[in-house]
Amino acid sequence: MLGKLPPGMRERFKIHFCGPTGADAVETAVKLCKTATGRANVVAFQGSYHGCTAGAMALTSLVAPKLRVGNQMPGVHFMPFSYCARCPIRLSPDTCDTNCIALLESTLTDSHGGFEPPAAVIVEMVQGEGGTVPATLDFAVRLREITRFLGIPLIVDEIQTGWGRTGDWFAFERYGIEPDVVLLSKALGAGFPASVILFDQALDVWDPGAHVGTFRGNQLAFAAGLESLARKWRRRRRRPGGGPRHTVCRSHDPMPHCCAGPRWCSWAPRTLAASSMRRPVAGILGSSARSRRTCSRSRTFPETTCTRASATS
Ligand SMILES: Cc1ncc(COP(=O)(O)O)c(C=O)c1O
Repeated sequence: MLGKLPPGMRERFKIHFCGPTGADAVETAVKLCKTATGRANVVAFQGSYHGCTAGAMALTSLVAPKLRVGNQMPGVHFMPFSYCARCPIRLSPDTCDTNCIALLESTLTDSHGGFEPPAAVIVEMVQGEGGTVPATLDFAVRLREITRFLGIPLIVDEIQTGWGRTGDWFAFERYGIEPDVVLLSKALGAGFPASVILFDQALDVWDPGAHVGTFRGNQLAFAAGLESLARKWRRRRRRPGGGPRHTVCRSHDPMPHCCAGPRWCSWAPRTLAASSMRRPVAGILGSSARSRRTCSRSRTFPETTCTRASATS
């Protein structure tokens, strides 16, 4: 599994079998980052979904399930996500300078930002339950720059997108970024429960046995996952484009096959993208003018640019 990470990450990363569900992976990752940093806060994004256990639900922005459950995991701070179709800060993507990430940057660097440095930032590269909303390239790249500069581990929740579901092994590859922790589940076990976290060994400072349980690596799920992968791989290899690959450069439009908008709209291949399903959000991801837009410069990290010559898909 580590071998599927992009070169450079696979040598540094470790794997932890954390329990059967996606929420288990979320809880494990947060605990790992809290232990490694000695910090308590976690930043999550509006529109996120990370699961229904106590910590994972606290990190989920959906309000309804929380209404009747008091005493959520404390220290969670929600920031706006780059949902350009319905901008949370009511700006236009053409002129906004990705102010959503600028707000995170100023919150984390301002002495009056309001909360102590977090143990982690957790993000989905494509918010799944939140409406199939891909992060914009500028947002993702600047998020990585900021968290790296400030020494905050970046957890990428690939429970829904990972293991080939976006065409690459991991959705973050499309953005050309390297997270510190990657969460995988759904596609791993081919319908059987399996979930893991992949993480930078620099975070591995917890004691042996710090996070154990009875049902961790589920061998039936792994066997099913391997078999399903082998079959899919054989089928896809026969088709042009082949199976999942490692994206070698950042695309201007990292998720061109994915609609960003109405909640009923799910993963959509290119053919669907042109259909009426896409109409409500036409121009958000599909516009070549927009997708050719280069990302703007960050005030704290003025060297940050992310221009790319060509799309990869
Ligand atoms: C991005 C993401 N994270 C976490 C979870 C939680 O996974 P589980 O339902 O297996 O606990 C989900 C489930 O849909 C998800 O989509």
